[in-house]
Amino acid sequence: MLRTHTCGQLNEKDIGGEVTLCGWVLSRRDHGDIIFLDLRDAYGITQTVFDKESNAQVHAVAEKVRSEFVIQAKGTVRKRPDDTENPKLPTGKIEVLITQVTILNDSLTPPFEVKDDIPVGEEARLKYRYVDLRRPLMQNNLRTRYRVTKIMRDYLDKEGFIDIETPILTKSTPEGARDYLVPSRVNEGQFYALPQSPQIFKQILMVAGFDRYYQIAKCFRDEDLRADRQPEFTQLDVELSFVEQEDIFLLFEGLLKKLFKEIINYDLPDRFERMPYSEAMSRFGSDKPDRRFAMELIDLSDMLKDCEFKVFSQTLASGGKIKAITAKGCADYSRSKIDELTALAQSWGAKGLAYFVIREDKIQSPIQKFFKQDELESILSKTSASAGDIVFFCADSLAVCDTVLGNLRLKIAKDRGLIDKTKFDVLWVTDFPLFKYNEEEKRWDSEHHPFTSFCDEDMTKFESGDYGNIRSRSYDLVINGVELASGSIRIHSPKVQSKIFDILGIQNEEAAKRFGFLLEAFKYGAPPHGGIAIGLDRLLTLFLGCDSIRDVMAFPKTQRAQCPMTDAPSCIDKKQLDELNIRLTVDSPDI
Ligand code: AMO
Ligand code: AMP
Repeated sequence: MLRTHTCGQLNEKDIGGEVTLCGWVLSRRDHGDIIFLDLRDAYGITQTVFDKESNAQVHAVAEKVRSEFVIQAKGTVRKRPDDTENPKLPTGKIEVLITQVTILNDSLTPPFEVKDDIPVGEEARLKYRYVDLRRPLMQNNLRTRYRVTKIMRDYLDKEGFIDIETPILTKSTPEGARDYLVPSRVNEGQFYALPQSPQIFKQILMVAGFDRYYQIAKCFRDEDLRADRQPEFTQLDVELSFVEQEDIFLLFEGLLKKLFKEIINYDLPDRFERMPYSEAMSRFGSDKPDRRFAMELIDLSDMLKDCEFKVFSQTLASGGKIKAITAKGCADYSRSKIDELTALAQSWGAKGLAYFVIREDKIQSPIQKFFKQDELESILSKTSASAGDIVFFCADSLAVCDTVLGNLRLKIAKDRGLIDKTKFDVLWVTDFPLFKYNEEEKRWDSEHHPFTSFCDEDMTKFESGDYGNIRSRSYDLVINGVELASGSIRIHSPKVQSKIFDILGIQNEEAAKRFGFLLEAFKYGAPPHGGIAIGLDRLLTLFLGCDSIRDVMAFPKTQRAQCPMTDAPSCIDKKQLDELNIRLTVDSPDI
């Protein structure tokens, strides 16, 4: 070893000892005859002293050293003078008087200081990721990530699961995003797809008799990126045979309880609450409700059938709904704030945003005049609104009312700081619809994925063609309004699976081409099975309180799916293209 101790290790007990440290120069303070170098490694910071009087040679070296040089320094641990102690550092009571020093490597001036809380643009952070990752915050994030996966592996190992790798070069796996494609050189004109998840392979492993599988799996999805989405991300992916939904809930509740305790010392309940999808939508306007604050959606349709405000009565007459939320204590909103919220509501699909501002003695509203006294009273009573509040109304199809008020509820809560950040609200959302109608393409899509099974009680709805009301046996784990995990009990009958492909418009030939191998596998004794996958990056973002999942990944991509450090994706030369039989229809800037 080039060192006897790390830079985070020494304290008063070591005073008088001879030590050798290795690390990066964090800062250099030159007081003429005495130079202080703060040495940093992955474990901490230690102050080293280069004193010209006691050793002119090492002092001369310290004069040359700059930020981020890598050095090896040998010396004696001594107590710092009382008034120079640094209580913020574990090593803050000591320093090392250096007697021997070697510059192991020099460094260009770093693009930014290796310190937390300094303003650095994302592009620079990703281009010089190796410098960015030296910052204590990023070191902690990635080390926490390792601890999380270690706990996951240990927990699942104890529960009898084994880790099996599934291919990266494979066929399209439907999770609703576009595929990343890889051309095959040896099979001319043919392409592999990178997996959007190991979904089909894990189901085939169940047919193969591995009844408890897990994998910490890379998934690839070519979709529009946001703060909580990356083109490649990691899932803890799990599948089990001979189980019910309840078994999967128990398994994951145990795992999450352990993770929350060990990583952030937070006690989750033994069992998590559940809420059917329909209830989540009707009360919170979202399939991933954040229940850390109230402001629930109230349906006023029944009481407003005969009201004189045409927008409301006509919406109801044409089968729509009127829903409202009460923004407690928001009567101080200015006209321009209400206009801003109205514009937002319109961007979410609303035609307008009616409102009542409730004062002690009156209701202020452009539409108040259309309501009779008893209607006003019923609205206030049903929405629990009182002086100082605003009631916002949306009249539209049920889906638009839910989306608009669900979003508005979140916006107001964020603006007003209504969300208790110390709390974790954990919820299973269950009974999602099996299908959702794709208006643009005039066909049914899977809500989860095509392999999801459905509630036996809804069997008859297949015959009557009432596809929109068939409930699936799928579930999401939602924490603080974020969808963290998703899963389902799967179809294991080839006949039923074919029927679902039919409804999804994946006709026999196409189904055979895309998923024939799965249908074929099901013909050889497929056990009942089900599973779940949790987004590892999102879980860490939650634990570490980061704004973006990029902060919990070593080498993430930008919003444009680029890596500024390696410059990926990049053009390839003509020879490589020729080998792959690929001709470009756009100019390649590099060739
Ligand atoms: P799903 O597509 O819901 O389900 O993904 C499961 C979890 O993965 C995370 N996730 C993402 N994280 C970062 N960036 C992305 N682009 C991204 N997309 C998804 C989310 C999500 O809850 N095969 C099924 C699981 C199953 O049925 O077992 C699946 O992949 O946290
Ligand atoms: P108007 O009669 O269009 O001037 O609208 C009067 C008020 O009702 C305005 O505050 C509009 O924002 C609101 N409004 C209009 N359409 C709707 C709707 N479909 N749902 C809720 N509010 C609406």
